[in-house]
Amino acid sequence: MTDPIDLAALPQDFAWGTATSAYQIEGAVAEDGRSPSIWDTFSHTPGKIDNDDHGDVACDHYHRWREDIALMKRLGTNAYRLSLAWPRILPGGDGAVNAKGLDFYDQLIDGLLEAGITPSVTVYHWDLPQALQDRGGWPERDTAHHLAAYASVVAERLGDRVSHWATLNEPLCSAWIGHLEGRMAPGLTDLDAAVRASYHLLLGHGLATQAIRAAAPGAQVGIVNNLSTVEAASDRPEDIAAARRMDGHTNRWWLDPVHGRGFPSDMLDVYGIELPEQAGDLATMAEPLDWLGLNYYFPAVVTDDPTGPAPYARQVQRLDVPRTGMDWEIDAGGIEELLLRLTHDYGARKLYVTENGSAYPDVVRRDGTIDDPERADYLIGHLAACVSAARKGAPLAGYFAWSLLDNFEWAYGYDKRFGLVHVDYATQNRTVKGSGHRYADVIRAHRSQARKAA
Ligand code: FCB
Repeated sequence: MTDPIDLAALPQDFAWGTATSAYQIEGAVAEDGRSPSIWDTFSHTPGKIDNDDHGDVACDHYHRWREDIALMKRLGTNAYRLSLAWPRILPGGDGAVNAKGLDFYDQLIDGLLEAGITPSVTVYHWDLPQALQDRGGWPERDTAHHLAAYASVVAERLGDRVSHWATLNEPLCSAWIGHLEGRMAPGLTDLDAAVRASYHLLLGHGLATQAIRAAAPGAQVGIVNNLSTVEAASDRPEDIAAARRMDGHTNRWWLDPVHGRGFPSDMLDVYGIELPEQAGDLATMAEPLDWLGLNYYFPAVVTDDPTGPAPYARQVQRLDVPRTGMDWEIDAGGIEELLLRLTHDYGARKLYVTENGSAYPDVVRRDGTIDDPERADYLIGHLAACVSAARKGAPLAGYFAWSLLDNFEWAYGYDKRFGLVHVDYATQNRTVKGSGHRYADVIRAHRSQARKAA
């Protein structure tokens, strides 16, 4: 098969991975001492999730992880991004460690390493123990300290084998979607709570970075943000100002503090909420990073929306543009633009695409195969854009496709399928889709080029 991607632009030791998160795949929510997280509570609240789906069983990865590692090997990946479930490890949020929770990840990490797959571990992918939510959750400062204590426990146990750590996944979603828009756990619609949550998430990131480094010297620590390119829907001055606010809300609010620039002053004006700042916090948030993770899905085209929630800008649907099954606009150029922005505007020394992918309604053919050319095209188009960014100087060290498996897609439940591997939820049968085979072809092609070059 001829490949349109010039893979030679990628480093020989490029990380080819897939990504998942604990609550979306593990299931076994009440096993071996795990306590409920805010996502158990939210998903069991009627009306919050499409079809009232929940993660009680999900992909049953807690019991099927060996099979899932074998799938990663079939795809030819050499890296895997997973998250740890805080309520499995510290069921009370802080305090006593649950040995069985840690044992699960211990075995999983060993299994990955035996398979030649490098684990990239995200400490927090949204599943706050409900016990901590009951004490106020992210709007409370203590939660940042609890995150650091939890990070220390896991880095002490796994840090001899895991060198690649992310503190947070997409704090934007935890703060803005969870506390302002209410579409994700804990489901609040309160600007004051949302701004406080965003502050404590970033403080927690800095404290957790320090904790991981103290427990596991040599650890490579980063943070994972979901960023979007932002464009005004028209050249009306109101829309241009709205696009600037959306860029602040989506991108700069999360990037500036960790790069030592503090919080963007224009956004402080937009929110009009006093930050719960204490001396030294900004320096903690700006603890130097070893790498930055980019999750990219779609561009944002926005219009002024004075009556909506902060930042008073609303995304609009452009007509006549291709979209995925999420109704998300497809624009591979956006991933290139963002990788270059992180390189040039923020001086990133090492970048990973930590998530990128697409959902489409899959059709299982009578012979059991799944042909998903749209997902494969999305993948190849975005990989080509990543390569183009690398050629222009972005220090891109790896790409993690979202996702290894179809899984619990948060408020959308199980209907939205992002996997390179199909999951039949009735039988838990896994089938590699056409896009998964295509990804394996790309990885193989890169590997053989790298071998020849060596
Ligand atoms: C990201 C999340 C991930 C997944 C993808 C589709 O926002 O980090 O868990 O749900 O979107």
